[in-house]
Amino acid sequence: MITVLVNGANGRMGKEAVNAINNDPALTLVGEIDYQDDLAASINALKPQVVVDFTAASAGFNNTKIILNNGACPVIGTSGFVEAQVSELQALSQQQGLGGLIAPNFSVGAVLMMKFSAEAAKYLPDVEIIEAHSPQKEESPSGTGIRTAEMINAARTKAATPTSDKELVEGARGADIGGVKLHSIRLPGVIAQQTVFFGGLSETLKIEHNSQHRESFMPGVVLACKKVVERDQVVYGLEHLMD
Ligand SMILES: NC(=O)c1ccc[n+]([C@@H]2O[C@H](COP(=O)([O-])OP(=O)(O)OC[C@H]3O[C@@H](n4cnc5c(N)ncnc54)[C@H](O)[C@@H]3O)[C@@H](O)[C@H]2O)c1
Repeated sequence: MITVLVNGANGRMGKEAVNAINNDPALTLVGEIDYQDDLAASINALKPQVVVDFTAASAGFNNTKIILNNGACPVIGTSGFVEAQVSELQALSQQQGLGGLIAPNFSVGAVLMMKFSAEAAKYLPDVEIIEAHSPQKEESPSGTGIRTAEMINAARTKAATPTSDKELVEGARGADIGGVKLHSIRLPGVIAQQTVFFGGLSETLKIEHNSQHRESFMPGVVLACKKVVERDQVVYGLEHLMD
């Protein structure tokens, strides 16, 4: 039995995580905490093996440090991590000998969308990404969009066709992640969607993923809670725990 504490338990993702953990016989929920609670004191009192964090981009990095420094394995869904922060947390986890996960996206379909996009980029180097989320999303672009662009860049062996950078209206061409254009849409009714749009000689290819409900992220959260306790280092991306 693996014991789990949920931080951000009053939020939309936190509530889904509480339900998913309660419904899995291999996991035991030992606490639900939120903004008003002291994370370090809660870990020391409740002694969870794993802390799931779905809070706010401004808090995710510090929360992960607190989780590791207090001897628990972090399963972090909170978005907004930059590369340097991930590296720092991986080094801290190695020092502590604790496994963990920072997941830009917990949905299995979204992870496959990223993997398939990286594979396609080996053959079709011309690619742009369009991601859509709800208006409540704190930051842009999404972590999934950034991670997809990073995976495409790592896989791409041929140079993309040059395009003009001249914008009549600032921002028209989207954000640039290592040469991959990334466009962010924020609309009510959307949970999380992403289209990876490839162009080739007289052909196009679209790889699209759509989360229709927040429960789509929960199989990934449950899997991560079970796997991180067997590891001794934080990994970045659910794909590292899926195989
Ligand atoms: N990785 C994924 O697959 C995935 C999927 C969806 C959302 N997210 C991310 O998860 C996070 C939460 O999303 P949400 O839709 O549940 O947001 P939300 O606003 O509905 O919930 C956030 C909760 O965290 C609490 N909170 C904020 N700061 C806190 C802090 N410092 N300590 C403790 N609690 C704090 C809030 O009071 C709230 O209850 C966001 O960063 C979002 O981008 C990740």
